[in-house]
Amino acid sequence: MNTKITAVYPGSFDPPTKGHLDIIARASKIFPKVIIAITENYNKHHMFSLQERVDMMKESVSSIKNVEVDSFSGLLADYLINIDSFIVIRGLRALSDFEYEFQMALMNRTLNQKIETIFLMPDQLYTFLSSSMVKEIAGLGGDFKNFVPDAVYKRFKIKNNL
Ligand code: COA
Repeated sequence: MNTKITAVYPGSFDPPTKGHLDIIARASKIFPKVIIAITENYNKHHMFSLQERVDMMKESVSSIKNVEVDSFSGLLADYLINIDSFIVIRGLRALSDFEYEFQMALMNRTLNQKIETIFLMPDQLYTFLSSSMVKEIAGLGGDFKNFVPDAVYKRFKIKNNL
């Protein structure tokens, strides 16, 4: 049994939401160290740059001692080897997440047999939340304050002149 297991929570986090934070808090209670690994998702058009997403995430998790924020490019499977980890954390909000997550988990395991993906369920308050929805609500003038960490809310307003 490896008592120094580092878990990696990868994602594009554009922007980080309270749903992501809920998963991070849960993972940080299970694993001695959690690295939030932020990257580009080439299937998405990001609103925030990689550096902005890293900065927002760092500000949002600064109070959780065993959590670090990093960024990577290329394959997640290669990043895991570089940092000597084999545990991937992903959130499962609803059945609709399952197919995509199942595909990613099995593809990562095909790339490296050691990789295990562990799914955590966020609080039911966040099962309907997504980064796209936050951007849409904000863009249409709705109140999105309750869906994102304070640090994200502030940066979001500045970036979009809200
Ligand atoms: N609460 C709220 N929302 C959540 C959530 C939670 N707990 N968990 C997921 N979401 C939402 C996000 O807000 C996001 O919404 P969006 O689609 O509206 O943007 C969506 O679910 C998933 O986003 P996120 O968790 O940020 O991850 P992603 O799907 O953008 O990231 C990567 C996918 C980056 C992990 C994947 O593309 C990857 O590993 N890339 C590296 C390259 C690679 O290895 N590719 C092969 C992979 S097999």
